[in-house]
Amino acid sequence: MDLEFRKLSPDLGAEVLGADLAHPLDDRSFGAIHGTFLSHGILLFREQHAMGPAEQTAFSRRLGRLAETIPNERMHDHYPILVLSNIVRDGKPVGSGRGGQFWHSDLFYNAIPAAASFLHALVVPEEDGRSLGDTKFANMAAAHDALPEAMKKKLEGLKNRVSRVKSWPINYPFRPPLTDEEKAAYGSVVHPLVRTHPETGRKSLYIGDISAGTVVGMPAGEGDALLSELRDFATQPRFTYVHRWSVGDAILWDNRSTLHAATDFDAEEHERLMHRTTIMDDTVPT
Ligand code: OGA
Ligand code: MN
Repeated sequence: MDLEFRKLSPDLGAEVLGADLAHPLDDRSFGAIHGTFLSHGILLFREQHAMGPAEQTAFSRRLGRLAETIPNERMHDHYPILVLSNIVRDGKPVGSGRGGQFWHSDLFYNAIPAAASFLHALVVPEEDGRSLGDTKFANMAAAHDALPEAMKKKLEGLKNRVSRVKSWPINYPFRPPLTDEEKAAYGSVVHPLVRTHPETGRKSLYIGDISAGTVVGMPAGEGDALLSELRDFATQPRFTYVHRWSVGDAILWDNRSTLHAATDFDAEEHERLMHRTTIMDDTVPT
């Protein structure tokens, strides 16, 4: 396969040209794709109309173990794919409704979070010839490198207690509250605020979804202010890429070194359908 790579923005992301993910990649092509993924944080493949759930799953499995189920999210009937959609068919939602409209990394609230996610656009809302529901991405390795030295020092060794029970009512006021059983199952986990990427060795800010976090050993107000400050710093336009989706686009992102956020659209007016595979971060010590 003859592949070409083109930068998506000065500091984040690359587009892969010449890849057809409906067919298995030879090892050399996969190696080139994997290397560019690690160095660029996100990879865009366009025109992947022939990639079905089986092929998306097969490609994703080459990157690691997949999440087979995700609590409180709707999975595909036959594949380890999270279906993200606002479409209702025969009175039944076909996927998880809108979420993720805040900066986050996937499964941050798990002891084993997501290493990568691979999102394929099947139905994209459009208005006046412009697609809606963009996804924003931010480079947490570049953001970490750009922090003032004093802040890097302050963050050394700091830990974040992360709880989906805390973030749920903030992120999903439109979903039913978690039951006591669900709350007990989520519990809380601890992640470092700065992590070293297991494959690149590069440090990145690891703040995930700040509404889930509590900085360990800091008064709540101070910890929350620190998380907000870091989020605001790291999501400045110079660290971000905003993707405007077309049907057939597929984006692979690295949850260890990037954050992402959905943007809003009128879900009463427009339909959207995306398929996501989720690759687990099995290097995280538990
Ligand atoms: C996700 C996600 C953003 C979007 O799939 O993990 O956050 O724009 N998606 O759909
Ligand atoms: Mn997400």
